[in-house]
Amino acid sequence: MVDQLPIVDVGPVAHGGHCVARLDGQVIFVRHTLPGETVRIRITDDAGRFLRADAVEILQAAPGRVAPPCALAGTCGGCDFQHVDPAVQRGLLADVVREQLQRLAGISWEGEVEAISPELGWRTRMTWAVDDAGRPGLRRHRSHDVVPVPHCPIAHPDLPDVLGHRWDDEVVEATVSSTGQRLVGCDGPTPKGLDVDGIVDGDGARRSGRAHVLEQVRDHDFRVSGSGFWQVHPEAATTLVDAVLDAAGVRPGESVVDLYAGVGLFTAFLAEAVGASGSVVSVEADPGAAKDARRNLHAHPQVSLVQETTERALRSDRVGPVDVVVLDPPRTGAKRAIKDLAALGARTIVYVACDPAALARDVASLEQRGYALESLRAFALFPMTHHVECVATLTRS
Ligand SMILES: C[S@@+](CC[C@H](N)C(=O)[O-])C[C@H]1O[C@@H](n2cnc3c(N)ncnc32)[C@H](O)[C@@H]1O
Repeated sequence: MVDQLPIVDVGPVAHGGHCVARLDGQVIFVRHTLPGETVRIRITDDAGRFLRADAVEILQAAPGRVAPPCALAGTCGGCDFQHVDPAVQRGLLADVVREQLQRLAGISWEGEVEAISPELGWRTRMTWAVDDAGRPGLRRHRSHDVVPVPHCPIAHPDLPDVLGHRWDDEVVEATVSSTGQRLVGCDGPTPKGLDVDGIVDGDGARRSGRAHVLEQVRDHDFRVSGSGFWQVHPEAATTLVDAVLDAAGVRPGESVVDLYAGVGLFTAFLAEAVGASGSVVSVEADPGAAKDARRNLHAHPQVSLVQETTERALRSDRVGPVDVVVLDPPRTGAKRAIKDLAALGARTIVYVACDPAALARDVASLEQRGYALESLRAFALFPMTHHVECVATLTRS
């Protein structure tokens, strides 16, 4: 009976797409709500030190609550903030970045999260789970259950039509590139009449058609193989390239290292900035991405490619003292690389981060090693979700 469920007053937003409330003194992380609301909750998990819960009835709504554009909001596990006006979403993301920097690095940040359009139809890469009946969908929050998804409003409209078919597989990946090329990735049989440019297996190996897509960013072309990393929002690559170049302030003749370089997105633009008399070392661990980078960067003789983990590359003689370090690690951040990275003695470090907690932890570590946070920009590159992308600039103090 819903009306027997507890009622809580909701406090501030916390990292992870939920807000903090208390029930009989115990901390509860509540999803599908907003700070300032009074909601009825259903407890979903008891983690000992805290509880998790879903808001199931909104008794007092906060300004900023809107009708979700998705019929599955709160159900499919894919978005956190469909019920929140986009400007208010950005305010919540800014609160999270601010709180992480304050708590983990002791730094006060008063910036804003910059809006990126579109807010729907932006996901150019989707990984669909498939249920026992072959229906594609998404996994419920913190669960293996698959919620079938007939339509996903954040998916790019030009993605391959995975949702209109049944699949005999656990996972199906769909990609559409900025040039309109479309790939599907799966191991099982594929439906007849699928309108794509290529099909790859779960490891990205070619099954039919092409096994890579072409991405264009300004006047640069990038080949990205089936399983390789590429920025997801259509505006992400350009936004981040501009932010990185602004932050790095690279001058002709300088030396740069681009760590966690993927298929060479930042490397290509940094190579242009340092010119023929400069140098860029581009470090990427994944063999497929490194192979793509080799093709993407072959016109830039000032670039040397190192296919190696960042941690090992920094301990080798292939990366020496540089003027500028750019790094864009995965969500876990660069904890194990920070000491060696700081020892390169760069005048500027530009840190691109998709997790503000990992960023704040690593910034604190860099501050202990003689760097100071000079600026931090944050971008709403994943609208409707709790994810936020940051570009931090650190200089030697
Ligand atoms: C967030 S992506 C960034 C890629 C690139 N900067 C871009 O914007 O397209 C992180 C990249 O780091 C790579 N990677 C993950 N762990 C790594 C490690 N320990 N050393 C080097 N590269 C790593 C991944 O393969 C991926 O290409």
